[in-house]
Amino acid sequence: MTKNFYITTPIYYPSGKPHMGHAYSSIIADIFARFKRIEGYNVLFLTGTDEHGQKIQKEAKKNNKDPKKFCDEISETFRSLTKILNLTNNDFIRTTEHRHFKSVNEIWSRLIKSGDIYLDKYSGWYSVSDEAYYDSEEIQEVDGNKIAKTSGSPVEWVEEESYFFKLSSFQTKLLEHYKKNKDFILPQSRRNEVVSFVEKGLKDLSISRTSFSWGIPVPENKKHVIYVWLDALTNYLSALNFPDTKDEKYRSFWPADVHIIGKDILRFHAIFWPAFLLAANLPLPKRVFGHGWILSDDKKMSKSLGNILDPIEIIKNYGTDQLRYYLVKEVSLGNDGSISMENLRNCINNDLANNYGNLCQRVFSFIKKNCNNKIPKINNFNENDINLIKNIKSNIPKLVNLINNQNLNEYIKMVVNFSFEANKYFNDSEPWTFKNKDPERMNTILFTIVEQIKNISILLNPIIPSSTKKVLDTINISDKDISIESIKKDDILDCSLELKTLDILFKKIENDN
Ligand code: ME8
Ligand code: MG
Repeated sequence: MTKNFYITTPIYYPSGKPHMGHAYSSIIADIFARFKRIEGYNVLFLTGTDEHGQKIQKEAKKNNKDPKKFCDEISETFRSLTKILNLTNNDFIRTTEHRHFKSVNEIWSRLIKSGDIYLDKYSGWYSVSDEAYYDSEEIQEVDGNKIAKTSGSPVEWVEEESYFFKLSSFQTKLLEHYKKNKDFILPQSRRNEVVSFVEKGLKDLSISRTSFSWGIPVPENKKHVIYVWLDALTNYLSALNFPDTKDEKYRSFWPADVHIIGKDILRFHAIFWPAFLLAANLPLPKRVFGHGWILSDDKKMSKSLGNILDPIEIIKNYGTDQLRYYLVKEVSLGNDGSISMENLRNCINNDLANNYGNLCQRVFSFIKKNCNNKIPKINNFNENDINLIKNIKSNIPKLVNLINNQNLNEYIKMVVNFSFEANKYFNDSEPWTFKNKDPERMNTILFTIVEQIKNISILLNPIIPSSTKKVLDTINISDKDISIESIKKDDILDCSLELKTLDILFKKIENDN
């Protein structure tokens, strides 16, 4: 039976060019998607752009562009970022597509049918940049300007006719769901925030606007456009050909296994989205994972601080794998984490160049020099060799479990440690001393170390796919053997083939760079 796995990123606003925060969410999701694939799952990995609403309409107007045309252009930069980051998304959805329009219409009509929508008037605060309504307790005044406390975004007073969703009537059901499904919201700290928020009581939610037109019209009242968050969240279903619930994609992939999001949009995903789905009588996603913020030199990135890190610029200077590795190694996934160019350089030098990269280079050149460039055949391991190899194999269930709990930091720590151990083994075993006195011993050490390199490369493959692919190519491992299963096997290495040539994997970075 095929096992399916559905993972999503947020769909990003194409209101400006993509920044490091967007890259971060996408890279995280890609790592999980790639891991589940090499674990044998049939994975659907979705990303895309969120193109409706007042924020986009305003931004388009500022640029003297028709909103659709404006979105076409910027959405394309997000699509090209998926290539630059080496993402393996299977689809890229835009909320201006017809498939999405159909799906949002169906959700709306399901909510009408269930009796969860009524017409009234909204008066309160609204932040265009967050596309969010705020209570008076959630805002504050700074230098005469009203801003949202959590995001710092400006808010404005809105009074208009609006359709409402009866969110208040879902409080109990949501709390029950959180209680029954302890891992529905992760990490736990985020879950606690949501639970205590919902426990305080929920107000009905305005789900349509009349003061602008850039959105999906309310089917029975074209004066209104559907609130951009009801529109956007539905993308996760649109990509599965919803409303056709008999469709193969829908049946294979809904409910989603995990929505990867930033903590800024937790409320929408962990409260509104499940409530909409409950009302629409659809199953809820299995998990919402809210990661922390990337800070630039300890401060939140913002246009006004001028500290926005451009992932494309960094990749040009240092490389895609290098950025991917750094972001997951140095930032604790659930928490805010500061990044800096200095740390990035140190991380590339210490972890990638000196540790994993160096291990591969020196072992392969030793084999080239001393073994006709072939992995030696052997069959008499000593206890050291066996323990080294066994250590990875016996930790597979633990590693899989770490990934299934989105514990990426612990995962990567373990794998880096395997790499340190392998380097140490190579040094301590001193294969060069056996060249004449005991060539069989030398061969055993070499076979053992290549076996380790293979297994470490497979485990690092989801994180640094192109470098590990080069290493695995060098030792003639084919794509079908880049799998967790082949770590468990003992007969994957082919000793009859010559090693291919491996170029420098990671250039060391000079520190005044
Ligand atoms: O909120 N650090 O889109 P958006 C880490 N369209 N991640 C960050 C970040 C930072 N400094 N800044 C942004 C939207 N992100 C909606 C989503 S989903 C149905 C609709 C990431 O363009 C993080 O994942 O504002 C955050 O949730 C997302 O970008 C917000 O992107
Ligand atoms: Mg945002």
